[in-house]
Amino acid sequence: MLTMLNRILRPALKVRNTQLSWRHKTQIRACAASSATFQPLEDCLVLNYGGTAMHLNYVWLRDHCRSAASYNSSTNQRNLDTGSIDLTIRPDDATVQNGHLILTWPGGHVSKYSLSWLAENSYEGKKQSTIQPRILWNSHIYEEANIPSAKWDTFMSCDDEVKKFLQNYLLYGIAFVDDVPATVEATEAVTQRVSLIRETTYGRMWCFTSDFSRGDTAYSQLALDRHTDTSYFQEPCGIQVFHCLKHEGTGGTTLLVDGFYAAEKVRQQSPENFELLSHVPIRHEYIENSDNHRNHMTGIGPVLNVYPWNNEMYLIRYNNYDRSVINTVPHDLVQRWYEAHRELTTELRRPENELWVKLTPGKVIFIDNWRVMHGRDSFTGLRQLCGCYLTRDDVLSSARCFGLQA
Ligand SMILES: [Fe+2]
Repeated sequence: MLTMLNRILRPALKVRNTQLSWRHKTQIRACAASSATFQPLEDCLVLNYGGTAMHLNYVWLRDHCRSAASYNSSTNQRNLDTGSIDLTIRPDDATVQNGHLILTWPGGHVSKYSLSWLAENSYEGKKQSTIQPRILWNSHIYEEANIPSAKWDTFMSCDDEVKKFLQNYLLYGIAFVDDVPATVEATEAVTQRVSLIRETTYGRMWCFTSDFSRGDTAYSQLALDRHTDTSYFQEPCGIQVFHCLKHEGTGGTTLLVDGFYAAEKVRQQSPENFELLSHVPIRHEYIENSDNHRNHMTGIGPVLNVYPWNNEMYLIRYNNYDRSVINTVPHDLVQRWYEAHRELTTELRRPENELWVKLTPGKVIFIDNWRVMHGRDSFTGLRQLCGCYLTRDDVLSSARCFGLQA
């Protein structure tokens, strides 16, 4: 093993001797038991561990020192003033011992990083991992999965039931609680088992019928095409909760479509269209001007939002009702953007991607408004729906506190 390590280290030593004055001070050692090797280069230290070559910038390494002087492990906050780090800093000494990379900096400060922590937190490590595992679905996939609904009694009394519910919610972007009393109060109570309620211009808990009380199509009996809500917020609401308290009539079935499933199809079929939809900023807008309500909101961002380091989607804004004037796209891109948008729309409208659910009193649905679209068919008669929005941060925080990956 030592022979192999020496062979791996040799190129670095060669570079050290010929190019870099700071390296004349750097001591390079490696421990066979660590199964890690490293090379100090001009602008970073390359650490090979667990089959991954990590390129660790020196300022980053000093900034992420986990010594008590640099980091408060009780509050998980940085003590070190990043503004005080010399941007040309290089370690005087580097070694790997007992599963740790140990660096000694000019002035004598020692930083010790566990190799597993570096593997998990390096760019190369994050690039290979998923922030939130998901199961993308069309109606067949979702129905075959046969996901059980949580039940009101156990949901309200048992944390394990909430954890199972959140796991399903994270994977599929929708989850149900059954047997909830058909009241606004019970709906509020069931949502508060999961997270904080996000108060918006529609109130904290909203309750609506087809009375046109607000300047929004939702307050009518008309069918609504698939869409995400509050696309006109700079940060659209994370989770939507619906509970149909009463319906004396026909129609009104709820439509659900996994936006990420459709977008992944576009990514596979036409990467250039996916790229366009994930980079061109579009404005959504809500203007309400009635006797009782005056609002003017705008939200700007691409239709598809993707983490740049691992290409994982995390947010789709898709609302043809609220999409505002397109004046953020140069003329030569407008046609291409419409073609890309049409391809996404075609995927979203495939009948096999539509999950139709009849919401009845007692059945509360939670919808990931950053992923799953909702709509409805038209209806007759009195239909009373209540619900609310939840903050995404708090839902994900609840999930992480249960040990779930989110
Ligand atoms: Fe909506």
